[in-house]
Amino acid sequence: MDLISLPIIFSLMALLFSLPLMFFLNRNKSQHPPGKTGWPLIGESLSFFKSGLSGVPDKFVQDRMQMFSPKIFKTSLLGEKVAVLCGPAGNKFLFSNENKLVQAWYPTSVDKIFPSSVKESGGEEAARFRKMLPAFVNAEALQRYAATIDSITKQHIKTHWENNKEVIAAALIKKYTFSVACKLFLGIDDPDYLERLSGPFAIMAIGIMSLPINLPGTALNKAIKASEAVRKDLLEYIKKRKVDLMENKSSVPQDILSHMLLTMHEHGEDEKAVAVKSFALILGSLDTISTTITFVLKYLAELPHIYNEVLREQNSILNSMTGEFLKWEDIQKMKYSWCVASEVMRLTPPFQGAFREAMADLTYAGFSVPKGWKLYWSSYSTHRDAKYFPDPDKFDPSRFGGNGPAPYTYVPFGGGPRMCPGKEYGRVVILIFMHNIITKFKWEKILPDEKVIVNPMPMPVKGFPIRLEKQC
Ligand code: HEM
Repeated sequence: MDLISLPIIFSLMALLFSLPLMFFLNRNKSQHPPGKTGWPLIGESLSFFKSGLSGVPDKFVQDRMQMFSPKIFKTSLLGEKVAVLCGPAGNKFLFSNENKLVQAWYPTSVDKIFPSSVKESGGEEAARFRKMLPAFVNAEALQRYAATIDSITKQHIKTHWENNKEVIAAALIKKYTFSVACKLFLGIDDPDYLERLSGPFAIMAIGIMSLPINLPGTALNKAIKASEAVRKDLLEYIKKRKVDLMENKSSVPQDILSHMLLTMHEHGEDEKAVAVKSFALILGSLDTISTTITFVLKYLAELPHIYNEVLREQNSILNSMTGEFLKWEDIQKMKYSWCVASEVMRLTPPFQGAFREAMADLTYAGFSVPKGWKLYWSSYSTHRDAKYFPDPDKFDPSRFGGNGPAPYTYVPFGGGPRMCPGKEYGRVVILIFMHNIITKFKWEKILPDEKVIVNPMPMPVKGFPIRLEKQC
């Protein structure tokens, strides 16, 4: 071999050895995340639901994080290819790339249950709705409503709890949150009307996270029918309110409904669109808050030392009250109680997570996610991880003292621009209920080991029956 051919041979050998490496690197760059996509159409939806219905909702995500990658895995849910982004970095990526790399996406069942009658895209419509909401449920507005919510709460407890020794707590709490939302958002307080509206709402909540199969008897089919019935019912009420508004009646409440009716023509909407939004709003606030309150009561029944601390805080507020009803300042003093509710939402998040859609081909953790794939963040990828919450199964409200959990680890309300706009309203309703119930009652569980399932929100299967005893 002469000296001239040596460099050529070395170059060829280098190329030869680097080829597999280049191939591997390139392959990895364009590779989809690890995971499995299950059966056609159904995908892994059944495993996802089964995990919730068996009372271990975190299992679906935890198992796959262990099996495939703690950062990202692929699956197929509700008829869509989905990349689940995990851990605080996954949450941060999704929350901070809203409308840059990812956009909101709702399961097709949502469009069917809440049909839009406006010409905007679903995203634009949702964005406008989202912008409008804070004006009615931000801290400033809530300062005005605190006493009203307290008065509804006191009335509810007097009617439904006070003369009973035993109650099915979850059902009553749902009734309560429903009546607060209907009164505050839509001005509805007629008990018969509330009763008639309340049934279909539960059916719709289950239908939202169901398989996109609209056949007689499926959850989606039942939800669509329930939605049609509620819309028809609400439409009558909304039309009447519009007439009152046009006649400038002074008694017309200045609530979200009045606002929507006064501005609907600017957005090409009609009363039907307002009816859809109205019940979307009620639905959004209903199960999230009632789930949280139910589990607050459950943990307090199981942990007497926490119960005593909450009671101590609430009694001191009760004793310092100057009027009949709670004021905004009183609610701001309920710091320990809110730490307790926050710990409840860490261990039992009402929302498991939410979807986004990839707006373009994107790369995350070295894997590619094609445009149009859905992305999902899950509270279960961080809420019970010992790295962020030491001794994660222990109920410990002190985690929320001081600086609180590390960024993007505690996400019951989501994060970034799409963070739940009803968070402050939720906080106020939860705390006002806690104040009223604990200053009136002690309670104990009737069923010692009642199973909890998630469908689509966590709930004790028998509705959490409890025995009540009045405070002395
Ligand atoms: C404990 C109570 C609540 C919890 C845990 C909760 C949780 C959440 C979560 C996790 C999201 C999804 C964020 C995302 O897509 O990443 C969300 C969105 C939303 N929530 Fe709540 N929520 C609660 C109460 C409420 C209430 C009371 C209202 C209405 C007054 C409300 C209205 C909404 C709306 C309109 C959205 C959609 C926001 C958007 O897509 O931009 N929520 N909530």
